[in-house]
Amino acid sequence: MKINEFGKTGMQVSEIGFGGSRIGGFFANKNGASDALNVLQKSLDAGITFYDTADMYAQGESEALIGKAFRGRRQQVVLATKGGYCLPAQRKLMQRIKPLVRPIVHALGLKRSSLPSAVSGALSQDFSPSYLTAALEASLKRLQTDYVDLYQLHSPRAPFLQTGAFGEALETLEKLKGQGKLRFYGVATEVVEDAPFCLSAPGISSLQLGFGLLDPEALDEGILAAAEARGLGVIARGCFGGGLLKDGLDEDALKAATPKWRRILALRALSEKLGRPLLDSALQFCRATPAVSVTLLGMHTEKHLSDNERYFRSPNLTAQEYAELCRYIRELKEEPLYD
Ligand SMILES: NC(=O)c1ccc[n+]([C@@H]2O[C@H](COP(=O)([O-])OP(=O)(O)OC[C@H]3O[C@@H](n4cnc5c(N)ncnc54)[C@H](OP(=O)(O)O)[C@@H]3O)[C@@H](O)[C@H]2O)c1
Repeated sequence: MKINEFGKTGMQVSEIGFGGSRIGGFFANKNGASDALNVLQKSLDAGITFYDTADMYAQGESEALIGKAFRGRRQQVVLATKGGYCLPAQRKLMQRIKPLVRPIVHALGLKRSSLPSAVSGALSQDFSPSYLTAALEASLKRLQTDYVDLYQLHSPRAPFLQTGAFGEALETLEKLKGQGKLRFYGVATEVVEDAPFCLSAPGISSLQLGFGLLDPEALDEGILAAAEARGLGVIARGCFGGGLLKDGLDEDALKAATPKWRRILALRALSEKLGRPLLDSALQFCRATPAVSVTLLGMHTEKHLSDNERYFRSPNLTAQEYAELCRYIRELKEEPLYD
């Protein structure tokens, strides 16, 4: 596993990071916690040292699983978490009844997308000093550690980022840094359009953004270059398009899932020309982009991990292949998404 510098922090991170949003929760694998712990432990054995999670993933269970998996091996991992979303009452209740409901969810074959938002509850955000301070304390408890390596504001949107409240949130994180509860802090953006409001924010060490073959916008909008020039650790996520780039989704399934379905079919054809599975090309594309410090892969099964290990050990793209991919995705971006 290649090790990268994480911006100017002096932290070293594996170039592939574990995206922790899909472990735990109602829709996790049948064997729940034991499968997740197994995948987490095997991922560290495979050389992945960077773990990204959030307090709201699986109502806190994602953090708890990561804490449990690496208890006693804290120094071997870089733990990145996030705060700022408030769990609605429905999700707090779900957290308590999860062990009872999970087998029913599996028996009925329910998927995350089949849950109406009235049942899961609408999410609100709170980046106030008191909320962030309490949220970090709770995360530390679940992660079984007395500090996190990186604390990220979770998806603050442009209207918030343009107010003094953003500055106040950063001051709070600086204070928590001074108390030794976090080593560095940054922002995990929800959409790339929010990133420009973060680039000049004082004190931040990292920027997380959606970036990959399917969502290459950050490349051309100067965001990656600016983040690199500022010395930020850049975390690319959604490298596999949240799963849309995987094999086995036919045209109808893609059409139902995303307006970007034509891009995906075109990327499949290009990747075939490169002689690589599309997930391999997608991973190599992020790895080859110089500003990216760590590329997150959302994984929750041993099969994901073993396939992904194969991809991250496969040969790097040549400069010519990378240039061809860049040229091609620029052309694709110009094509209308809708009929
Ligand atoms: N605003 C934010 O801060 C924010 C937002 C989103 C994500 N994130 C972070 O980014 C991480 C990654 O995001 P993501 O999980 O949505 O995106 P992703 O890594 O693009 O997609 C993950 C999905 O790809 C599929 N996959 C992974 N490895 C595979 C393999 N070898 N073969 C076939 N399919 C494979 C799986 O789909 P199936 O489950 O269908 O098999 C998996 O759930 C998250 O875990 C989280 O840490 C942060």
